[in-house]
Amino acid sequence: MNVRSTAEACPPAVEGLVPHADELPDGLVVADATGRVTCFNAAAARITAVRAEQALGRPLESVLPLEDLDGRRWWQLTDPYGGLATRAGQPERNLLLPGGRQVLVTARYVRERPTGPVVRLVVQLRGTEARRRTERSHAELIATVAHELRSPLTSVKGFTATLLAKWERFTDDQKRLMLETVDADADRVTRLIAELLDISRIDSGRLEVRRQPVDMAAAVRRHVQAYTTGGLGEDRFRVEVTGPLPALWADPDKIDQVLGNLLENAVRHGEGTVTIEVSAARLKARTEGTAVTVSDEGPGIPEESMTRVFTRFWRGSKRGGTGLGLYIVKGIIDAHGGTITVGRGPRGGAQFRFTLPVGAPAFLERG
Ligand SMILES: Nc1ncnc2c1ncn2[C@@H]1O[C@H](COP(=O)(O)OP(=O)(O)O)[C@@H](O)[C@H]1O
Ligand SMILES: [Mg+2]
Repeated sequence: MNVRSTAEACPPAVEGLVPHADELPDGLVVADATGRVTCFNAAAARITAVRAEQALGRPLESVLPLEDLDGRRWWQLTDPYGGLATRAGQPERNLLLPGGRQVLVTARYVRERPTGPVVRLVVQLRGTEARRRTERSHAELIATVAHELRSPLTSVKGFTATLLAKWERFTDDQKRLMLETVDADADRVTRLIAELLDISRIDSGRLEVRRQPVDMAAAVRRHVQAYTTGGLGEDRFRVEVTGPLPALWADPDKIDQVLGNLLENAVRHGEGTVTIEVSAARLKARTEGTAVTVSDEGPGIPEESMTRVFTRFWRGSKRGGTGLGLYIVKGIIDAHGGTITVGRGPRGGAQFRFTLPVGAPAFLERG
C-alpha cells in the first residue's frame, strides 16, 4: 500500500478501475466521525503546503483552518458534525487558507442512515491559479480594448468639438482635413469592433465555416488587383501559381479575410515586391491540399518574436494596426483544419505560409 498519504480512509486503488488518492488532480481530505483527518492526498498537500504526515490524525479544523472572504472561520460557521442532520454537504465555495491563499472547497457529509450522525466528512480542494489567470487575462483584454477604442474616439470628439465651436474660423481645406481624420478614426473603431467580434467567435469556438468551392488563384489575383487599382504599382506584386491545384472547399469570405490581412501586412509592414505563391501541398495523413505563401522584402520579423505574432494585440512596428489581424488569420485557418507558419523569405522579409485541406465531404472528393 502507498504510504505517502498513509490512510485507511483514502479510497484504495483498484488496478485499472479506481485511481489511488494521490493520483487525483484535486485535493482530497477525509475526516472520520470524530473530525480527525484520515486521508490527505498529494494534491491536498500541494494546495495547502501541509505535509500528509502533519495532517493525518489531527482535527480537521486545525489542519484546514479555512476562512470565508469576510474572515469567518468556516468549520464553525458550517458545523458539519452538529448542524442540520439533513444537510448532505457544502456547495463549492471560494475560501482562504492561512496566508490568504484562495482555494475552492466542496464538502460532502457521509451519514450511514438519513438524518443519522456524520460518519465521514469528505472535502475536495481545488487551487484557483488557473481560474485567476483567465480572469486576469480577461481583465487585461478589457483594458486593452478600452484603450484601443478611446484613442480614435478622443480624436473624433476633439475634431467635431473644434469644428462645432469655431466653424467660421477654418478654411474649407482645413475642415476637409479634419473631417477626413474623423472619417478614418470612425473606420478604425468599426474595424476594431468587427475584429473583436471575430475574436470572441474564435475564442468561444463559434466561428462558422461555410464551405464552398474556392478558386484560390483567382482570389489572390482579385486582391492584388484591388491594390493596383488603388494606386500601388503593378511591380509591387508577383503571383506564381503552380498547377494543377486540388479542389478546395472553404469559406470564401474568410479566405478573403486571410488574404486581405496577409497582403495588407506585407504592404504595410514589409517592403519591395510581395510574392504570392499558390501550389498544391501534401498535408499530413497523405491528404491533398492547397498551400499559399506570402513573402516580402522588408525587415521581416525578428526570430525572437516569431512565436508571438499570432497572439492578439501583439504589434512589432508602430505602423498603425490593432495587432489582431494575425490572431484572426490563425483562428480562421485553424477552423478550416489548416496550418499557418511564419519564417524568413528568400529575400530577407517576412514569409507567411498557410495550407488548407481540400475540405470537401469524402463522396465529393472521390467524384
Ligand atoms: N510582413 C511583415 N513584415 C514585418 N512585420 C510583420 C509583417 N506582418 C506582420 N508583422 C508584424 O506582426 C505584427 C502583428 O501583425 P497583425 O496581427 O496583422 O497586427 P497589425 O498589422 O494590426 O499590427 C505587426 O504589428 C508587425 O509588427
Ligand atoms: Mg495586420
